[in-house]
Amino acid sequence: MSSDTISTEQLRTSAIEVLRLNDLGTMTTAAPNLYPHMWSWDAAFVAIGLARFDVPRAITELRTLLAAQWTTGMIPHIVFTDDDTGYFPGFDRWGTAGAAALPDGTKSSGICQPPVHAIAVRHILDRARENGGADQEAAEAFLAESFDGWFAWHRWLAAVRDPDGVGLIEIHHGWESGFDNSPRWDGPYAGIRPGRVEPFTRRDTLHVADVSERPDDAEYTKYLWLVQQMASVGYDDDAVQEVVDFRVRDVFFSGIMSAASDVLAGLADELGRSGDATELRHMSDRFRNGVDSTVDPVSGLARDYDVLAGRWIATDTVSGFAPLIAGGRPDVLARQRSILQGPEWLGHPQLLFALPPSTSPSSPAFRPRTYWRGPVWPFLNLLLGWACARDGQLGLYRTLRSESLRQLSDLTFGEYYEPFTGEPLGSLAQAWTAAAALEWLGGEGTPVAD
Ligand code: SER
Repeated sequence: MSSDTISTEQLRTSAIEVLRLNDLGTMTTAAPNLYPHMWSWDAAFVAIGLARFDVPRAITELRTLLAAQWTTGMIPHIVFTDDDTGYFPGFDRWGTAGAAALPDGTKSSGICQPPVHAIAVRHILDRARENGGADQEAAEAFLAESFDGWFAWHRWLAAVRDPDGVGLIEIHHGWESGFDNSPRWDGPYAGIRPGRVEPFTRRDTLHVADVSERPDDAEYTKYLWLVQQMASVGYDDDAVQEVVDFRVRDVFFSGIMSAASDVLAGLADELGRSGDATELRHMSDRFRNGVDSTVDPVSGLARDYDVLAGRWIATDTVSGFAPLIAGGRPDVLARQRSILQGPEWLGHPQLLFALPPSTSPSSPAFRPRTYWRGPVWPFLNLLLGWACARDGQLGLYRTLRSESLRQLSDLTFGEYYEPFTGEPLGSLAQAWTAAAALEWLGGEGTPVAD
């Protein structure tokens, strides 16, 4: 059956099946084989998808993640299942067992990922209120129960990862960005000369058909070197900053921080916590201004900043649209929307769907099959669509929605997609891709062909 003839109901049923396939009961694996544990920002998107058909299960997902929150407030990027899944680097390799801030009985990595969680809590609450009854009661109780955890997470990010108050979050590993091997990080990684890295055997490459879809071995060695550096100081926040060879202000992470802090402020209002809401709105403004401050006047795209090298990182990657996520100055946003819809991005003549590739096809760094160097990532389009709807940009929202539904109607739920051919790459049955399909289906606009 061609994807053009897939009905809304078939897409919905298949997406729910993928989430069930990955469901371990209290956590959803990011993907069946390649990622057999819980990832922090995956879990938030998964919860958004789950909320479309099972609010209690969506709550459980975030509750599981939050139970792994470190005593500092950090939410770790991987929460490991107890099973020995063969994933590498697993809990032992992370060396977090000796970290003072790791809660007892928790197995997690020692780094974090972008704070999309408050946005997921908002979605759960909205769906639950539409349903009413027990769902509404459970979601409202969950908000009251979990608010302090999300608030501590945002405060930790603001205090520890932006100690100078510039409005940009500093990351210590490309994995913290979620954009692991993006051209954004080529400069910072080029400066790293790994010392002796404990021997290792990669497992990720066993689960993809073509190893060129993943980061290469030289990149991977540096990834593990950074893990080793952080483990050597027990993941102590101050000490990590002293020893780690990767210190970058991540503009996209910061854009999410701004957007999510504003959402969390709204949730604080609902709880009658006006002082916390005010603090969160200041936080949101601070990171929105920080993101705006990075915009390259020539290209109109936002930039990262390499702290160790003391220079801006300008790339033609989708992270350049961080102001659209943060919701910045109207003139910046108008220009960004025009660039996004222009020939370097959605209007590129070779694209199969009008969806942003992770790197512009016009960039010399573009590689259409390689992870964060070119493929299209469906969860990111959902986030961008959410920001468009928030800002009343319904035309762009509808384009992203209808194109995403067309793309996802191949029912493979790929981790990422080749932009010109639409071939699914990386892992299939990726949980957050299925979640994105469910959320798009639930949104308003043009229905998928039936
Ligand atoms: N994304 C990384 C991986 O490939 C780790 O977070 O496993």
